[in-house]
Amino acid sequence: MTASMKSVNSKHQLTGKDFLTLADYTSEEINYLLELASYQKKQQKNGKIDQPLKGKTLGMIFEKSSTRTRVSFEVGIYQLGGTGLFLSTDDIQLGRGEPIPDTAKVLSGYLDGIMIRTYSQSVVEELAANASIPVINGLTDMYHPCQMLADMQTINEEKGKLNGVNVAYIGDGNNVAHSLMIGSAKMGMNISIAAPKGYQPDATITEKARSFTSNNKVVVTEDVTEAVKNADVIYTDVWASMGQESEQEKRVQAFKEFQVNKQLLSYAKPDVTFMHCLPAHRGEEVTAEVIDGKHSVVFQQAENRLHAQKALMTALMG
Ligand code: CP
Ligand code: NVA
Repeated sequence: MTASMKSVNSKHQLTGKDFLTLADYTSEEINYLLELASYQKKQQKNGKIDQPLKGKTLGMIFEKSSTRTRVSFEVGIYQLGGTGLFLSTDDIQLGRGEPIPDTAKVLSGYLDGIMIRTYSQSVVEELAANASIPVINGLTDMYHPCQMLADMQTINEEKGKLNGVNVAYIGDGNNVAHSLMIGSAKMGMNISIAAPKGYQPDATITEKARSFTSNNKVVVTEDVTEAVKNADVIYTDVWASMGQESEQEKRVQAFKEFQVNKQLLSYAKPDVTFMHCLPAHRGEEVTAEVIDGKHSVVFQQAENRLHAQKALMTALMG
């Protein structure tokens, strides 16, 4: 670790901590992770890569598909001097019913950190409760906190700040929407979620987000135009998440008025930024014209997954 990296690091001690939801992190800790990510990104662009995780190994358990999360963690740990192990639940005994506590204890004897992508948040929590090494949530049905670190880094790069930024999320009140709500509330952004009845964010998570802020707004509405009014950022995600494939047709019907298109963008600020965690379905939640147009930062956002994940691993496993 270099001297300047140490000075960023000295403010917070996150070593050994789990990363299950942004709700468990203070705004100062989130800010520290964002600063570290931005510092490491700059270093990398200048050809200088610090290797604070030499000799460390991250196990990556996947029960669902992934491109960005898998590759950013695997390349990230390699760049930091360590090794990543891809563990599909199709191959490991967890997928055949080996208890989560046993898996956690066994893996704690080999690894320095575990990243897991699965369905239920309770699986991630049980794994973390039984592991003696940091556990990172790489997406559950409830949350996608790693995505949010990269997204906040991207918003910072685009708007020069987070505090006071107006974010509109249009579509399904899913894992990404939940993490966006928590992250926005913690970091001073105003968040408006427009979703049809029956697909709005979980009420408990909405209340939790509201409990993190007294100054900035956390709004849930069915009115898309209202949500994007004065928006600095418009964000969307797929209408049917992983595990909901059988509901695809029903969801296309339910969400047809919730597409992000050129007309919707015209109600936002002229310099509005369009974001999507990817993968995207052009012609459904967003038109090709918008996602491939000049307001879109989706590939910058995807690249920032690498920098955000490197900062997270450095802080937790360093
Ligand atoms: N955004 C995201 O998590 O992408 P993957 O599903 O490809 O990991
Ligand atoms: N909401 C999506 C996000 C994918 C990165 C899903 O869970 O499938």
